[in-house]
Amino acid sequence: MNPSTHPRVWVDIDLARLRDNYRHIAETVAPAQVIGILKADAYGLGCLPIARVLIGAGITRFGVADPGEAFQLAPLGLPVQILGAVLPREIPDLVRHGIVMPITDLPIAQEISHEAGRQGKTARCHIKIDTGMGRLGIPITTALDVIRSIHALPNLELEGIYTHFPMADREGNAMTRRQVKDFRRLLQQLESRGHVFPCCHMANSDAINNFPQAVRKPLNWVRTGINLYGVCDSEGGRRLHLRSVLTLKTRLVALRELEEGSTIGYGATYRLPRRMRIGTISAGYADGLPLALSNRGYVLIRGRACPIIGRLSMDYTTVSLEQVPDAELGDEVICLGGEGPQEITVDSWAQLKGTHPYDIICSFGNRVRRCYTGD
Ligand SMILES: Cc1ncc(COP(=O)(O)O)c(C=O)c1O
Repeated sequence: MNPSTHPRVWVDIDLARLRDNYRHIAETVAPAQVIGILKADAYGLGCLPIARVLIGAGITRFGVADPGEAFQLAPLGLPVQILGAVLPREIPDLVRHGIVMPITDLPIAQEISHEAGRQGKTARCHIKIDTGMGRLGIPITTALDVIRSIHALPNLELEGIYTHFPMADREGNAMTRRQVKDFRRLLQQLESRGHVFPCCHMANSDAINNFPQAVRKPLNWVRTGINLYGVCDSEGGRRLHLRSVLTLKTRLVALRELEEGSTIGYGATYRLPRRMRIGTISAGYADGLPLALSNRGYVLIRGRACPIIGRLSMDYTTVSLEQVPDAELGDEVICLGGEGPQEITVDSWAQLKGTHPYDIICSFGNRVRRCYTGD
């Protein structure tokens, strides 16, 4: 038997739903266009398979966080842009491979311009403006002057300009509204000085859902990551109707009857109130199950909810099988996902863990096999 054919723990990624989600987002934001954000290996789900499906569905551009990710996607033939920052030492290779670069200040623009000239090329860039994220980019207060200087540099194609929101998950949020206003005003001021950018973008998934004004002209692109997977931030509105593409699964590896008073797991945090049939599943926190599910979460076996008892461990989790008397060794177990009222959502895990949904899907461990279905 090929050992790789039977993973103990795997995540099914429904590519048909991914395609539907992308199309729904694209239709909702049209005539704006969609940059698919595939950083961190497409939020841990596998950047190349995800990218290929999105290309098939009509996407025309990708965004990533760092050069390694950009080089991985570049052979697929679409423009790939780095959203964050680039280091001077990374610029030669980025220019050589035609990666779209962020300009986050004047010195980096000068470096890119110089290197592009050295290679006899024109480097395509998007200028990043800091309207309140406070992380990267040209502060909006100095943007007009800095952009004038950037425009004077040779060998640059200033294709785009963009900014990012820290709080677009809160519908009607005053800071986000202020950012939209400031950025729009900047675009107008730039236009009146003759600086027009073909690509102007600010909306991420949250803003697409909560701030339609961040998707209207002259804003003609959006950057969406988490919504592609049918996952939304816990807060805020849901203008989009998306379906989760993820089901995290494992198998039942032990079934036992234990006596009343037996304790379960590290810390002995659960004591059986009666003689009970319990099961052990082959997934734990190393696979991305939040420790916070201990004594609180449940899994689905044969469509029925089985409460997690005791503390999760690295590789195994113990569940009550009282609702599933017919359970058998090797049964498939849904840890996350499922259909209907029993569905275990990414959001419910995020709330139990006291985190946000991004952290949940980026936390599936290395041994969780990524399995692509529905294509
Ligand atoms: C600059 C930038 N744009 C867009 C995104 C995509 O965000 P989301 O996954 O919320 O759509 C991110 C992700 O963090 C980002 O850093």
